[in-house]
Amino acid sequence: MKPTEQLLNDILDEVRPLIGKGKVADYIPALAEVPANKLGIAVCYNDGEIIQAGDSEEGFSIQSISKALSLTLAMTLYQPEEIWQRVGKEPSGHAFNSMIQLELENGIPRNPFINAGALVVSDLLHSRLSAPQYRMLELVRKLAQNPHICYDKVVAASEMQHSDRNASIAYLMRSFGNFDNEVMPVLTNYFSYCALKMSCVDLAKTFSYLANKGLPLGAKKTIITQTQCKQMNALLATCGLYDGAGEFAYRVGMPGKSGVGGGIIAIVPGEMTIAVWSPELDPSGNSLAGTAALELLAERIGRSIF
Ligand code: DON
Repeated sequence: MKPTEQLLNDILDEVRPLIGKGKVADYIPALAEVPANKLGIAVCYNDGEIIQAGDSEEGFSIQSISKALSLTLAMTLYQPEEIWQRVGKEPSGHAFNSMIQLELENGIPRNPFINAGALVVSDLLHSRLSAPQYRMLELVRKLAQNPHICYDKVVAASEMQHSDRNASIAYLMRSFGNFDNEVMPVLTNYFSYCALKMSCVDLAKTFSYLANKGLPLGAKKTIITQTQCKQMNALLATCGLYDGAGEFAYRVGMPGKSGVGGGIIAIVPGEMTIAVWSPELDPSGNSLAGTAALELLAERIGRSIF
């Protein structure tokens, strides 16, 4: 069944009581200021039809959802082995910003969606692009069909001021020879990608290519191949929700990517892309009410990749 605006509104009403039971990310002080009661959802069909409810047009910090965009861009610039010799494809089972495995596994991050992996991908982008921030913005605006998308400079600066852990991760990888550029400029770019300010509608449109074999919304040419699209969705399904990936697969059953801004995107291959936003997080750093909304939606419309 196709979701209607009424169904989306009903789902938001059902999950609203969860607000107050999670915790807004506060290790990035600018994120702690976002009102916890924001709640939005948008669905983008592969033909471009959008169904939305709640705060679906309000911009928020996409944070780690950007890791899927960085990897997409890297896939367009590098041969597969150039990427996968530097970052793995396995779930980590640890927090998104953990350093434990990195030391034990010779500076090779488990996957491109934990912070360490995304920093390696940012390093790859830095090596091959003269203006990676500009290129990322150009890509996102095109995918979302929205020329107004911007980096939130306040969020990026706030994260830079509290960058000790990410800087440590990058320096540790550099000590193992798995980081080619100077750490600080790469970190600056990484924080900017995380600070992209987008709405649920922007996100659902942007990631439509993952539901459509690599073909972006309204485009004639694929951005990644059908095989790369399958690979991205497989990695999202196994690693996109960090140490909560198993729980998310069990409850929602779709490839997905979360961010500590409270956004989650979820893909129904061949059909639609969904984006939700609710700033309070569960202990793994995934949106609490957002996950619940996706679980209800998956159940009501009878969709899952499993
Ligand atoms: O680097 C960080 O810690 C943040 N910019 C992104 C973390 C994040 O979104 C994890 N997601 N659930």
